[in-house]
Amino acid sequence: MELSQRLRNLPPYHFAAYNRKIAELTASGVDVINLSIGNPDLPTPPAVVDALIESARQPANQRYPEYEGMLAWREAFAAWFERRFGVSLDPRRQLTTLIGSKEGLAHLPLAFMDAGDVALMPNPAYPVYPTSVALAGGVCYDLPMDAESGWLPDLSAVPADTLARAKTLWLNYPNNPTGAAAPLEFFERAVAFARQHDLLLIHDMAYAEVHFDGARPPSILQVAGASDVVVEFHSFSKAYNMAGFRLGMMVGNAQACEGLTRLKSNIDTGIFRPLQIAAIRATQLPETWIDERNAIYQRRRDTLVEALRALGLRVASPAAGLYLWPQAPAGETSAEFALRLLDQAAVAITPGTNFGSRGEGYLRITLTAPDERIAEAAQRLRKALA
Ligand SMILES: Cc1ncc(COP(=O)(O)O)c(C=O)c1O
Repeated sequence: MELSQRLRNLPPYHFAAYNRKIAELTASGVDVINLSIGNPDLPTPPAVVDALIESARQPANQRYPEYEGMLAWREAFAAWFERRFGVSLDPRRQLTTLIGSKEGLAHLPLAFMDAGDVALMPNPAYPVYPTSVALAGGVCYDLPMDAESGWLPDLSAVPADTLARAKTLWLNYPNNPTGAAAPLEFFERAVAFARQHDLLLIHDMAYAEVHFDGARPPSILQVAGASDVVVEFHSFSKAYNMAGFRLGMMVGNAQACEGLTRLKSNIDTGIFRPLQIAAIRATQLPETWIDERNAIYQRRRDTLVEALRALGLRVASPAAGLYLWPQAPAGETSAEFALRLLDQAAVAITPGTNFGSRGEGYLRITLTAPDERIAEAAQRLRKALA
């Protein structure tokens, strides 16, 4: 059976191949420490699980759900958003419920990009963005990012003829993979740029609730008038340790919400209501729950940053998100080092190039393992580097 040209043209989803290798090693009895995927290891809050179980027993919740999500859920999310960011959203028009934010990110270009349209795409970036643009027939124009500019793209460098064909601009802060955060002033410039060039600005804020040292990242929707041109993605996976639930949100521009809901109504039939009821419960958790959970990630961050620096690797200490982004040791590409580390030390990390050519020379390491596994991974790294 021949795959479609569309699928054959896609770059491989590196995580899938790498995961297969990790699974093979694990099946053969190797104790792999997997720091390659931001898959929260901490449990979902019990009150959220209880809400899921209790609501699943009710026959009304076992039927097809609403396409755009239950109104009670959308209202609860809008209330959470207002408390968290001081931004008011219309729960009927400015929110679309997603089967995890990845699903919405992957489908959005099908609703708003035609063949040949240009997407302004940071490099490095979460690989789902360029892939979804390619699936819609669009073309990516690279916005190169580097450490010197704080991993913020230089929007003024995009040539006029590219801007004339550009339909979307993609941003992601707190950033995966670099761990960078963006100040509100950068968002103000980006919104003005999107307005000036008639772009849909797609901001992925999947790591909104994972932040350290008391610094809470802003939403781009805090910029006055942003929802004229912006949609922002949120995820319950990282916010409330609910990765397996598959629940995300796109909020902001009402036409974009309507377009994506229209597309999705041809593809899926909404989210199991009990998941939405569980997520309502999550939005009601006290702020201290987030603080205590983030204190655990922060401790892991500090352990790993210290260990990597002691090994002579250069690494910034991120203010948010689930990742460290150290420079790879000299003399090896980031993919060569990551493979050697897996083979020789049974530690799985991600080569920076999985996120684009600008990731060469970098490694991405997640904080989603218990303290003792992080400490053990640091020991193994020491041996591999010796
Ligand atoms: C930047 C970014 N956005 C979106 C997602 C997808 O998250 P989910 O589909 O679980 O909401 C991820 C997952 O790792 C991510 O790193």
